[in-house]
Amino acid sequence: MYVGTLVPISRPGPHLIADGKPVTCGPAACYDDTRESTLLRRMEQIGKYRVIREIGKGATATVYLCVSPDSDRPLAVKLIRFGKDCAAMSRRLRKLFGNEQMVARRLKHPNIAKVYEGVVKDEYAYLAMEFIDGFTLENHTRIDKLLPLHRVIGIIFKCCMALDSAYRQGIIHRDIKPANILVAANDEPKLVDFGLALNLNKNMDRDSTFIMGVGSPSYMSPEQIKGYALNQKTDLYSLGVVMFQLLTGRLPFRAKNQATLIYRIINTDAPDVTSLNPSLPEGLNAILRKALEKDLYSRYRNGAEFAKDLAAVRYQIVQDDETVQDNRHFEILRKLDFFIDFENVELWEVLRIAVWREIAPRVTIIREGEASRVFGVLIEGYVEISITGRTLCRLGKGEVIGEVAYLHPTSDDRSASVVTLENSLFLEINAAALALASEELQERMRTALLGRMIDRMRTVNGIAASLGAPAVESTKSLMAGSTRSGPGSGIDLELSPM
Ligand SMILES: Nc1ncnc2c1ncn2[C@@H]1O[C@H](COP(=O)(O)OP(=O)(O)O)[C@@H](O)[C@H]1O
Ligand SMILES: [Mg+2]
Repeated sequence: MYVGTLVPISRPGPHLIADGKPVTCGPAACYDDTRESTLLRRMEQIGKYRVIREIGKGATATVYLCVSPDSDRPLAVKLIRFGKDCAAMSRRLRKLFGNEQMVARRLKHPNIAKVYEGVVKDEYAYLAMEFIDGFTLENHTRIDKLLPLHRVIGIIFKCCMALDSAYRQGIIHRDIKPANILVAANDEPKLVDFGLALNLNKNMDRDSTFIMGVGSPSYMSPEQIKGYALNQKTDLYSLGVVMFQLLTGRLPFRAKNQATLIYRIINTDAPDVTSLNPSLPEGLNAILRKALEKDLYSRYRNGAEFAKDLAAVRYQIVQDDETVQDNRHFEILRKLDFFIDFENVELWEVLRIAVWREIAPRVTIIREGEASRVFGVLIEGYVEISITGRTLCRLGKGEVIGEVAYLHPTSDDRSASVVTLENSLFLEINAAALALASEELQERMRTALLGRMIDRMRTVNGIAASLGAPAVESTKSLMAGSTRSGPGSGIDLELSPM
């Protein structure tokens, strides 16, 4: 009885739509946000589909879990309401939406969510599609939530095959991003939102919402940003961005504002993923470079080509249980004093840019006189610090090594040597990768290292002062309430970079 209608549970006063026709849509009914959201919250029927609950919200639509009267199978219904900007905007949306559902219904592939039906009305439109019981890749784009490498490669591989099949059926997605890749049981990815209308917020050449900042260009190819005609290669680029993010926990191009971001996407190269996460296989650099190519002729030609290269890397991965190992490493760092002020997410970031080195006794980690930016934290064992053949001190578990050259603004010459005294485990932090890490981590690291350096300087100052001549006695103090000055002179001392 509700076929083709959008029915809120109760109908307080004039409702938006009944039996397929707008009943009242004067400004008061249409533009009242609180009223509209109350109605949406109470949504119980969309066309013939009974609403069970809301699943998620995007920039232009809301997705509901529903059941169809024709079967007990749950399905997802994506509802777009042509609210505020009404007229021109919704006319265009309607047209695009109509095209889209026809296009989407043609697509058949196990890794593409099926579309059953699309309905367009004056005030709203909806798309009934396969309900994917799983998670979106958006949950795994943060450094502390990354999936193990073999799973990332497996999932992206299947996405490549899905894109390849779609293109052979004449369809480009245009909005590949983590939220549009759902992952069902057994790591089966399902691409959702094929087409155009639903991706409207990304369509910057014609769409004012992009300029208003609703859409993010982070996953858009350079040609898409420029508003050029698109072919399937735009999807392969966007999938490259997704893969980059799943591997490193950050986007290939980042900027504080949209203009700079757009400039970078169009003009600069992304860093190598291994420079951000040294544990990744080298082979991935070439793959990502080819996927993120700005020059269309050099980019992957189709999904199958991209998938083939991924398969080659897959064989190189030793499928040891990386997750268990990662968690163990995380726990070790979490217990160290040095990292006490680091957030969990920053610790995960440290793990991505660090290498664990097991070092035998009597091995030089840093040599006096040489230039290097090696620095890190001693996790186990002991090292000796020496200058021109004389011992300065010994350092043990949890101590930082090599921080002075790292912090020095201009020089990375070493003025002390560091040699292991016993079997040691050293967490070497890659300075170049740290320079590309999040600003939060860089700041946290600088503060922690400076704190350590100052503590040491105070100790050494104390030692130096104990060797100095007796201090002069003062008669007055500048500080109110204080009668004596602290200990004086000693030798003039600067901490040597190690
Ligand atoms: N077919 C589906 N099955 C299950 N959940 C879905 C489906 N389609 C979309 N979703 C969920 O609904 C959310 C909102 O989707 P959408 O309106 O397309 O916005 P976006 O893709 O920008 O997140 C998605 O992030 C996803 O979590
Ligand atoms: Mg979506």
